[in-house]
Amino acid sequence: MSDKPVILVTRKLPEAVEARLSRDYEPRLNPEDVLYSKDEIIERATGAQGILPCHTEHFTADVIERLPEEIKIIANFSVGFDHVDIGAAKKRGLVVTNTPDVLSNATAELTMMLMIGAARRASEGEKLVRTRSWKDWSPAFMVGVDVTGKRLGILGMGRVGQVTAKRARGFDMEIHYHDVRRLPPEMEEGAIFHETLEDMLPLCDFISIHCNATPETTGLMNAERFSLLPDGAIYVNAARGAIHDDDALIGALQSGKLWAAGIDAYNNEPNIDARFAELPNTFLMPHIGSATIETRDAMGFRALDNLDAYFKGDEPGDRVA
Ligand code: DGY
Repeated sequence: MSDKPVILVTRKLPEAVEARLSRDYEPRLNPEDVLYSKDEIIERATGAQGILPCHTEHFTADVIERLPEEIKIIANFSVGFDHVDIGAAKKRGLVVTNTPDVLSNATAELTMMLMIGAARRASEGEKLVRTRSWKDWSPAFMVGVDVTGKRLGILGMGRVGQVTAKRARGFDMEIHYHDVRRLPPEMEEGAIFHETLEDMLPLCDFISIHCNATPETTGLMNAERFSLLPDGAIYVNAARGAIHDDDALIGALQSGKLWAAGIDAYNNEPNIDARFAELPNTFLMPHIGSATIETRDAMGFRALDNLDAYFKGDEPGDRVA
């Protein structure tokens, strides 16, 4: 019998990542990429020392409590870790890691796509062409709004927020941000810090969400805060749906308070509020911020680096619990 640690892998991972896993561990892979239930995770974890999950698996307090005693580490294939009850993990002495940095470029790229897609009515345009309903051209046809030179408010100026700011500067956007901490001046690169979200919102032609989902940020974008935006603002979220209240966002889109929204992260994925798809002024993606070949490989290798460190007796670089 091999003395390599047994790792439960909950989803199908990139080929190169699975190859390295199989070289260094005894992985329990999921070649069919089936979404396991909580009970299946607990059952399959029996005899394993670690789990390598994605954000699609929810490690709530009851799951963590029922995990086999031998499980010592949850090495996530994600930067977000709101799917893990960190308090419960700490209580049980479980090590939890994430995969920061490596997906910042891909997520910032998708954020730009959401901004431009929402501003330029990309969903409507594509539907017209694909359904062969495009009949004519006129100066009044499919008119959107500029992105170039507008004011962009970034909520959460961490790694992804900072790369997004860089990309947006390429469109001559004026960058504003709100975070719990102000960046050192050399990292701000001219971005304007706001102590409170309420101070920033009235200045945002575009607002893009880049903060973690925590109890403090859940529902932050509510009806009152949407009302503080300028009329015709554009809302973008490639982080977590939990940051906005669905009714408030949909209400602001229906009333025209918001010109449009570009969304990649939702509440209750993938069974999202059906009204998002019915609205003409939404540009919708299915949570693919980090979905590039390069980034998915890098996320997998980063999760493996964390496992390697743990099983060597070192502190994993990306420990969050
Ligand atoms: C992340 O890494 O958090 C992405 O949302 C994919 O899970």
